[in-house]
Amino acid sequence: MPEGLRHLIDWHLIEDAIWWDRLEAARRFARDRRWTDRARGRSIVLLFFNPSLRTRTSMELAAVELGAHVSVLTVGQGTWSLEWRDGIRMEGAEAEHIQEAIGVLSRYYDAIGVRAFASMRDYELDRREVFLGRIVRASRVPIINLESAFWHPCQALGDAATLLDLFRGSVQGRRFLLTWAYHPRALPMAVPNSALLMAARLGMHVTVARPEGYALDPDVMALARRYAAEYGTEIRETDRFEEAFDGAEVVYAKAWGGRLAYTDPQAEAEGRARFQDWRVTEAHMARTREAFFLHCLPVRRNVVVDDAVLDGPRARHLLQAEYRLHAQKAILEWIWAL
Ligand code: CP
Repeated sequence: MPEGLRHLIDWHLIEDAIWWDRLEAARRFARDRRWTDRARGRSIVLLFFNPSLRTRTSMELAAVELGAHVSVLTVGQGTWSLEWRDGIRMEGAEAEHIQEAIGVLSRYYDAIGVRAFASMRDYELDRREVFLGRIVRASRVPIINLESAFWHPCQALGDAATLLDLFRGSVQGRRFLLTWAYHPRALPMAVPNSALLMAARLGMHVTVARPEGYALDPDVMALARRYAAEYGTEIRETDRFEEAFDGAEVVYAKAWGGRLAYTDPQAEAEGRARFQDWRVTEAHMARTREAFFLHCLPVRRNVVVDDAVLDGPRARHLLQAEYRLHAQKAILEWIWAL
């Protein structure tokens, strides 16, 4: 891999000055939506191993609004299915290895965006981002993580810019509630991991509310506490759903699977079904300090959160989704040093 490529795997791997600079850039792009040709002559291919609505459209549009050429590929639908494991004898359904696929694409394009969710089968593999690491290894151009096993940096930058917009430029000391919510499927932890670090890095007090068995990875919690230590803010965990809303200024709801999903999915599903009342309602929002409601989307109405909240006066999830576009322009501007 050539030295000095600006891969975006997650913001915690990127120095503070760049994080804050990109945050300002995202807000600048929000203020000025004009199309430019600053990236004319550049190209990016977006590879989707998993479904997407927002990331797919907003990253494509971000590149186009900057003047770049974009290709969007759904892996296995009109492309060859891809193998990623090393040393494997490829006798299965996969016709091509990522070593060749990424090697080729990185000779055509100036950047590659990749969405590849957690396996939900091998926790260590997911935690160490082995799949994305192999994509990076095979590439000679910058890789942008469009949501991987553990991280969603595009979401995090958009969310941070949304918060600064909502609180007029400063969120330091504000109270951010990241609450687990029930979902019929055991979803990956990329969004809650990124949301937690994002809020901690902005200097917010963070409460993570989740039932027993749904704690986020201890290393991610520890990193959040290191960010918080710089501000003297608090990172708190609780399994008391109702009380967690008291005094919150931002409610960020998200479903994720418990660790048990990796080793005993049936037991995890049965356990999760007991927490169907972890659903954000108007009554919960009434306990807050007029909190804004955020969700990365897609969201299951009346399962994760009630209609009354999503359609209510404090919901900002659509603004949050809009900021994905502005944030991703800021990311492209950085990786290509425009
Ligand atoms: N929030 C988010 O990444 O949305 P999509 O899965 O639709 O891209």
